[in-house]
Amino acid sequence: MTGAHPGEVLVSRERLDERIGELAHQISQDYRDRDLLVVGVLKGAVFFIADLVRQLEIPCELDFMAVSSYGSTTHSSGVVRILKDLDSPIAGRHVLVVEDIIDSGLTLSYLLRNLASREPASLEVCSLLTKPGHRRRGLETRYVGFDLDDVFVVGYGLDHAERFRHLPYIAVLERGTEPEQG
Ligand code: IMP
Ligand code: MG
Repeated sequence: MTGAHPGEVLVSRERLDERIGELAHQISQDYRDRDLLVVGVLKGAVFFIADLVRQLEIPCELDFMAVSSYGSTTHSSGVVRILKDLDSPIAGRHVLVVEDIIDSGLTLSYLLRNLASREPASLEVCSLLTKPGHRRRGLETRYVGFDLDDVFVVGYGLDHAERFRHLPYIAVLERGTEPEQG
């Protein structure tokens, strides 16, 4: 066997589609009379945000941020850097932050503190996936796609050392038996 690779499929393409439709419907109802700004967190949330906003029944605007928390390993360092900030101010806007996954919650709590200081009219979170660390931390996450066990997953935007983002489903990362390249 070679290096780390995708193993068991945890969330199929069909299940992703179905659940994202439900989330989009709920968000459309909640933001019916509001001017919605969807903020995507690069790069992991790109696939999710693209599928989510295309199923919304209300208009919205998009902006993106890029933060770095992990480097290329699989444990949170607690260090969050803003690599790309929003293009526009968010004061007075209804902001929905779209994340791929919340693990320790360190990245998100940093991001939320940072965005809250810019005085949006409202600030909510929609995360496709959460892990137990986040639930222990009790972070307010209004919309959640799937609650996972404490496993490292790849696919549908989620990477391991920048690999496997392109997979159309979410799979458990199997550790390889040989040292990894690059
Ligand atoms: P947190 O700060 O521990 O909540 O980490 C959040 C970030 O870590 C996510 O935005 C992902 O980039 C990355 N991450 C956490 N768990 C996983 C995983 O299972 N697969 C891929 N990336 C993950
Ligand atoms: Mg990420």
